[in-house]
Parts: sequence; C-alpha cells; structure tokens
Amino acid sequence: MTGPTQIVVIANRLPIARTPGGWRPASGGLVTALRPVLEASRGAWVGWSGSKEEPPAHVSGLSLDLRAVPLSPRLVAAYYQGFSNQTLWPLFHDLVHQPIIDRSWWEAYEGANELFAGAAGALERPRRQPPVLWVHDYHLMLLPRLLRRGGSRSRILYFLHTPFPAPELFARLPWRAELLQGVLGADLVGFHTDMYRENFLRACRYLLPEVSVEGDTVRLPDGRSVRSSTHPISVDARELIKKIGEPRVQRQTRRLREQFGSRTVMLGVDRLDYTKGILQRLRALELLLERRADLRGRVTLVQIAEPSRYEEPRYRQIRVEVEQAVGRINGRFTEPGRAVPVRYMYRSMPLSRLLSYYLLADVALVTSLKDGMNLVAKEYVVCQAATQGSGVLVLSEFAGASQELTQAVLCNPFDEEGSRTGSRRRSPWAKQSAGAACRPWAPTSTPTMFSRGRRRPSPMPLLLKSEPKGPDRSGCSSPGTPRGLRGAGDRLPTPLSE
Ligand code: ADP
Ligand code: F6P
Repeated sequence: MTGPTQIVVIANRLPIARTPGGWRPASGGLVTALRPVLEASRGAWVGWSGSKEEPPAHVSGLSLDLRAVPLSPRLVAAYYQGFSNQTLWPLFHDLVHQPIIDRSWWEAYEGANELFAGAAGALERPRRQPPVLWVHDYHLMLLPRLLRRGGSRSRILYFLHTPFPAPELFARLPWRAELLQGVLGADLVGFHTDMYRENFLRACRYLLPEVSVEGDTVRLPDGRSVRSSTHPISVDARELIKKIGEPRVQRQTRRLREQFGSRTVMLGVDRLDYTKGILQRLRALELLLERRADLRGRVTLVQIAEPSRYEEPRYRQIRVEVEQAVGRINGRFTEPGRAVPVRYMYRSMPLSRLLSYYLLADVALVTSLKDGMNLVAKEYVVCQAATQGSGVLVLSEFAGASQELTQAVLCNPFDEEGSRTGSRRRSPWAKQSAGAACRPWAPTSTPTMFSRGRRRPSPMPLLLKSEPKGPDRSGCSSPGTPRGLRGAGDRLPTPLSE
C-alpha cells in the first residue's frame, strides 16, 4: 500500500452518535481534533458505540473505517461507569470526589482493554504496511502494553486527555504499577501540559523501580525507550470562523442581543460534570448579587449544561444541586417584571447556536475545579477574536487551557468568598490568545505551547460591563460578513497550516 501511513485511533467511544434520524458523526473535542489528521491518512477508528445497536462500518460525513468493540452491559457498568468514571476520573481530577476502589471493576477494566486489543490486532494484522496505532485516554491505559505483547509491528502512541495527578495521589491506586507499565507499552506518550507529563514521569520514577527516567524519556529493563511529550489539544479555528459567518449564526446572535439588551451577559458552557465548578460559579454569582443590590437586573448568567453520564449517581446529584442553586438564585434576585439572573439550559445544543452565545457573551466563565484542557475556553477566544469582540475569558488556573491562554483573567474557583467585581478589560487579549487557541494538534507536530510564566490568580472575579452595547463592538452589526471576520484567517494561524 502506498500513500500516507494509516492511523488507527483506539478510543473508548466511536466518533458517532445514534440519533432518531440514524447514526451521525459525534461532536466533541476528540473528534474535532483528530478528524483532519485521520481523513488525510484514510484512517480507522476502533471503539465502543455507546448503544445496544450494531453501528455501521461507515457513516456519511466521516471518511473513516469504523470498527466497533461490542461491550456487554455488565462490562459497561464495571469497566466504563465503574473503574473509568468512578475510580480513575475523580482520582485524575485531584479527588474532587473520592474515588471508589473495587476489585471487580478492575478485573472488568482488564477484560475490556483485552477486547480493545483484540479488535485493534484484527485490524492491524492483514495490513502489509503497519499503521500507527494511536490509543486515547484513561479508559485504555493497559492497551499499549497488550498491543505490544500481542506482537504488534506498529508504532504505538498514547495520549491522555485528562490531567495526570501528582504521584502521591496516583499511588493510592492498588494497580498503579500495572497502569504505568500498560502505558509504557507505547513508543510515545502525550499529555496536554508539561505539568501532567512531569507528574507521569515522577510517578514512573517513584513507583517503578525497574525503570530509569532521563529527561523526557523512560528507559525500560528490556532496552526500550519511551518518549513523553506535551501536545495541548485545540479547536478547528478555521471551521469555527467559517461557521460564524453563516447567516443563521448572525441571525441568532442578533436575536439574542435584542433579548438581552444592555444587560451584561456571562456565559457557562459545560458538560454537567462535578469537575467543571458550575456550583462554585453559581455561588459566586449569588454572593455578588447579595452584596451589590445595584447589579440585580443588570447581569445575567446563561448556563448551558450538556447532559452527561446520567447513569451515575454523582452526576444525577450534581444536576439536582445545580438546579436547586439556579432556582434559589432566581427566587431570591428576580425583580418584578425583570429578567431572571440565571438562564439555565440542560441540553445538548447545535454548534451554530453555541457560537451565537459565544459571540453574545461579555464574559465566559470557565471555572473548572480541575480540567485536562477545556475547549470551551478556546472556542470562546476564537469567536471573540474573529469578530474583534472585547469579551473577557475568566479561566480557572486548574484548567490545562490556562497554560496557553495567558491573556485570560485567571481565577481560583475554590475561592468563592473572594468574588469581586472589576471593570472589563478592553485590551486586544482575545487576538493574542487566539494564537494558542488554534494551533494544530497531531502526533507528528512537536511544538509545546507551555507558558512557564505563572501569574497570581485572582479570586473568582465577575466582571461588569462598563458601557452599553453598541454596534461598534458587536461584530455582527450589519448583515453579511461579521465585522472583523474578513481577514481573520490572515491574522490567526489555522489549525492545519502552522
Ligand atoms: P470535556 O471534554 O470535559 O467535555 P471540553 O470543554 O474540553 O470538556 O469540551 C467540551 C466540548 O463539548 C466543546 O467542544 C463544547 O463546545 C461542547 N459542548 C459543551 N456543552 C455543550 C452543549 N450543551 N451542547 C453541545 N456541545 C457542547
Ligand atoms: O474529557 C474526557 C472525556 O472522556 C472526553 O473524551 C469525552 O468527550 C467526555 O469526557 C465525555 O465522556 P463520556 O464518553 O464518558 O461521555
């Protein structure tokens, strides 16, 4: 076979979703980031369909071969909902909740990783030119080693999309050595930030006496070397900018601007996950409205929460808590005849509508307690920069994105009491940050965008608009191409070209 080396992605989920109208390409960061690379290499994707139905091998709109790994409901409950989501997820997010240690879940995790290895091996074996096998995320940490032991001839890459915790936390796992050894089956191991990569290397040094760590490389007793690197995932800025220009997005944005009038709009867009700090954000707003009666009726928080992992009790609980807080704040602070302070939507939303909210919002609040990267922050920056908006990104210092979006207002979401107001920043920060927001992300690209300078984070700041909205800053003030969009491609590096 000639042409570019094929890439086979192996991830927990296939990049497709079952909708009432049939199977469709799924949205989400991983698909968006990988799609251009995979389509250019005639790639394949191995994963679980998330449905009881057998998925097709091809889905219109995705030029990829899909190979489903069938998982029984018992395996899904123990491997995915159990070990992946209730043991590894909270542990890797710095114990925002206590992880549950359950041996039967671990056995299921081993079994599921073996099933993924079998499916990937079946795809690799018939090919004369071995593809690159690219394993993703915390669900499949044992897989690189299983592939190698199964006789794979391929180059194996592993990427972790979550944070990697400090070794002292990781050490709590009874299976810490097995997980590290599993990952070290890869030739190259990637992380979003230098901090996660350094945590991984320190964990190898302290917990695996048989290996030695030299710089960014782990040397194994069998003579192999495993390199580690930092590759922050990003968004497809070119696609987003194209979409912002669509008449539908402009129409929606204009309608939203009319609805919200002169109020300061703050925006939260998150999967409804306890790591995202949605409750802390709501409490900060409540404190602000409690202390500043003059602001009641002048600020609105639009919170868009995407349903997530609702089979798990903790996710149902966080939903109840968020909805109670929204009800309490609206009950306390809605002035007769005026709009509510929190407009809450619990649903998945088409990208075009999300973009309208990004264009509308004066402030985006990304207040994760811990977050591997956070693409919402980058999407907001791209939208504001493309339309020369003056929006402010308030970004948790515990989100991976804070390492790159150095012009954002950093916050500590644990410091609710420290909520304060400030005047909005009018510097062209968005343009500068956009550079980081739209860098390419691929296994072959090497630049690291880690910014070493740390600024002192503020308490969670809620910023206020100091002047009314006018057509001058709207970016969508006239029909046709949004202001500032033309030529944005010249200023912003596109995800593919840099
Ligand atoms: P995570 O990977 O933890 O879900 P990210 O912020 O990195 O968090 O990525 C979330 C992605 O999901 C973003 O691309 C965002 O646009 C999208 N998203 C978030 N909320 C919604 C929603 N309500 N409807 C549709 N897409 C959403
Ligand atoms: O951020 C980690 C992640 O696993 C993403 O890859 C995924 O899009 C998101 O969380 C949702 O997770 P799940 O597949 O469990 O619904």
